[in-house]
Amino acid sequence: MGKQQSSRAAVILAAGKSTRMKSHTSKVLHKVGGRAMMDWVTDLARSAGASPIVCVVGEANQDVRAHAERLGLTIAVQEPQLGTAHAVLAAKAALKDFQGNLAVLYADTPLIETRTLEDVFSALESGGDVCVLGFEPEEPAAYGRLIMDGEDLTAIIEAKEASPEELAVGFCNSGVMAASAADMFSALDQVGNNNIKGEYYLTDIIEILRGDGKKGVAVKAAAEDVLGVNSRADLAEAETAFQNRMRRRMMAQGVTLRDPASTYFSYDTVIEADADIGANVVFGPGVNIASDAVIHPFCHIEGSKIGKAAQIGPFARLRPGTEMGAGSKAGNFVETKKTKIGKNSKINHLSYIGDAVVGKDVNIGAGTITCNYDGYFKHVTTIEDGVFVGTNSSLVAPVTLGAGAFLGSGGVITDNVPADALALGRAKQVNKEGWAARYHAAQKKRKAKK
Ligand code: UD1
Ligand code: MG
Repeated sequence: MGKQQSSRAAVILAAGKSTRMKSHTSKVLHKVGGRAMMDWVTDLARSAGASPIVCVVGEANQDVRAHAERLGLTIAVQEPQLGTAHAVLAAKAALKDFQGNLAVLYADTPLIETRTLEDVFSALESGGDVCVLGFEPEEPAAYGRLIMDGEDLTAIIEAKEASPEELAVGFCNSGVMAASAADMFSALDQVGNNNIKGEYYLTDIIEILRGDGKKGVAVKAAAEDVLGVNSRADLAEAETAFQNRMRRRMMAQGVTLRDPASTYFSYDTVIEADADIGANVVFGPGVNIASDAVIHPFCHIEGSKIGKAAQIGPFARLRPGTEMGAGSKAGNFVETKKTKIGKNSKINHLSYIGDAVVGKDVNIGAGTITCNYDGYFKHVTTIEDGVFVGTNSSLVAPVTLGAGAFLGSGGVITDNVPADALALGRAKQVNKEGWAARYHAAQKKRKAKK
């Protein structure tokens, strides 16, 4: 019976209308942990070694189709949408002569773990003919019920079709199902729509395959891993489940979270052990943080690489393309973008540093602004090793500050500064003795007359 080392393919169902999201964007393109649900599911299928991966879309979801094409998926169109069995059948032509094991995934169920899908495929490779991923939700409500006879899955009964005894079953269908392509399509050909919704139910294939002498089995997942998203409230629930998963993982890996509940991660956040993350920190996509780095409270960080023992915030905003060198600092109310900061360099207060390359041991004074945009193009500011930038400097790019240069405060620096030079880019101060006293006297006199 064993079907060792079968090749694997996946069908991702994404043809549904998603009306409950009340969005001009298709449901499966909404994001969880900074990544579209569609991408989560695609990544899941790929990580379990599925190829090809066919995405079933409806005529109405052109945005899903375009997105799936960008992801490199094979597209199948289901029009009209007559149910989940009908949807999988729509993928048949695209699977061509695929002979191995086929998993059906829903594009609106983003948080399934690779090892869980591995378990589903493994169940087929170790004797099951059709395997369903089940879970025990707090509220079984509208989910299909998994009817077990010992280890055997004998049927899935949709809630609408279920008897009171069947409704009392707490083990439910997550939607993930796998069988050999041959079994799957032979059973799908026999599915009818003589039911309350008048739809072709994928879930009917369990009883059909059992009738052909095949063995049904179930694998169990944690409820928060198989959350299906149908509404904005579900989306928020999935986001919370994802964040909680990341918080647990980060701490298990040795990252200190001062206030886990107010720390927000993206799907790809990477943080080394012994980094220390304060309260109210948001990590957008593409963040990588080295050990011993400290992120003080209230920071927003995306697309940034933070070196060993760097110190960020409080209240810093690091935008995409930021690289903070080891031991460097970006303090309160500092914004960076597309900027590389060298080892031990400091931007401690109130600055915008964008499109810049900053060497090591540089000190950037409070209120320094890189004037990187001329209204049409962005220009680069280069600050070489050991430069001291005085407070309130405007660095009008393109401009280079040579190694060891010293900028007086308040300069508008439009020309390159040679290495080791002093640059003063401000008007020379003029003092007029006694002027203020004369001014006040004159004005007071004028006011008294009125
Ligand atoms: C389905 C299952 C139910 C399970 C639940 C888990 C069936 C009959 N029922 O019910 O047992 O507990 O999911 O969430 O399968 N879709 C299409 N084309 C269609 C219909 C649906 O592509 O014609 C897609 C949807 O976009 C969605 C998925 O299939 O991604 C599930 O469809 P949905 O209508 O949400 O099924 P449920 O009634 O929730
Ligand atoms: Mg559903």
